[in-house]
Amino acid sequence: MLLKDKVAMVTGGAKGMGRGIALRFAEEGAGLALCDLDLEGAQSVAGEIESLGGRALALRTDITKSAEVAAAVAAALEEFGTIDILINNAGGVPGTHASGATGTFDEAEWDRILAINLKGPWLVTEAVLPTMKERRSGKIVFVSSMGAVSPVVSVLHYHAAKAGVLGLALNLAFELAPFNICVNSIVPGPVETPFWDSLMPAGPERDAFFAAVSKHEVPLGRMGTPKDIAEAALFFSSELSDFVTGQTLCVAGGQPMLSQQATFNIEGYLRERGLL
Ligand SMILES: NC(=O)c1ccc[n+]([C@@H]2O[C@H](COP(=O)([O-])OP(=O)(O)OC[C@H]3O[C@@H](n4cnc5c(N)ncnc54)[C@H](O)[C@@H]3O)[C@@H](O)[C@H]2O)c1
Repeated sequence: MLLKDKVAMVTGGAKGMGRGIALRFAEEGAGLALCDLDLEGAQSVAGEIESLGGRALALRTDITKSAEVAAAVAAALEEFGTIDILINNAGGVPGTHASGATGTFDEAEWDRILAINLKGPWLVTEAVLPTMKERRSGKIVFVSSMGAVSPVVSVLHYHAAKAGVLGLALNLAFELAPFNICVNSIVPGPVETPFWDSLMPAGPERDAFFAAVSKHEVPLGRMGTPKDIAEAALFFSSELSDFVTGQTLCVAGGQPMLSQQATFNIEGYLRERGLL
């Protein structure tokens, strides 16, 4: 087992990728502290883990509030005695109805989305770090988004925050390397989770949308699954990656390769000019 006797805190652990990561890590022997706004969902995932013989603690936490984050970290330390792994996964654009392009949202909305996707991960990291520094060991994984590096729709606040996460992770990797704390980022492509609920409800219309996205945007021709993300998170959280820090891994079915080909066909360009 890759995470035997390790303890992982997973934010956004109530559903989607967070749930997938938590279940996968439990299979590998980790104890799980699940922090989420959705306590019922986190409790249900904790129940799934316990029914498989694992250890899990569900914590109602708003990652944008430092007092709640401090309380969650204290509760996890009380329960497990340590936190070896932090998965900064919670995020998204919950409750958003505007498109996210220029002129469609106000300053308060900018602050809200930045708080969920950038300030929150920073707060949780700060709260977990004293334990990791003391032990001179730790793994921290950030979940960014393909929109941060290769946007195909305009969602300014969200994509800016997710790009910020990549900068935050890089700077942390630099600062924390002397403490043997590895910090890496996952950039997911489109993954089938409740994340999409604020865009459109589950049903035939959404299935058709996912089919179109898979066909036109994803070289491997399918949507990602929480398990796809969980496997990458497992690599970054286990000894398999002990010599890896400051890295960004796209788990995106080959994106952004396809969109780059669509906008700039280098082979066609060279052929046209008789260079190939
Ligand atoms: N699904 C995708 O296609 C996709 C693509 C790229 C990036 N992402 C990112 O991946 C991560 C996981 O997304 P998902 O698809 O599993 O989404 P999801 O909506 O299924 O789950 C997100 C979880 O985060 C929790 N959460 C939201 N705000 C929170 C807060 N302030 N405090 C604590 N918990 C909070 C939610 O309650 C929810 O349980 C997010 O950061 C998202 O932005 C998702």
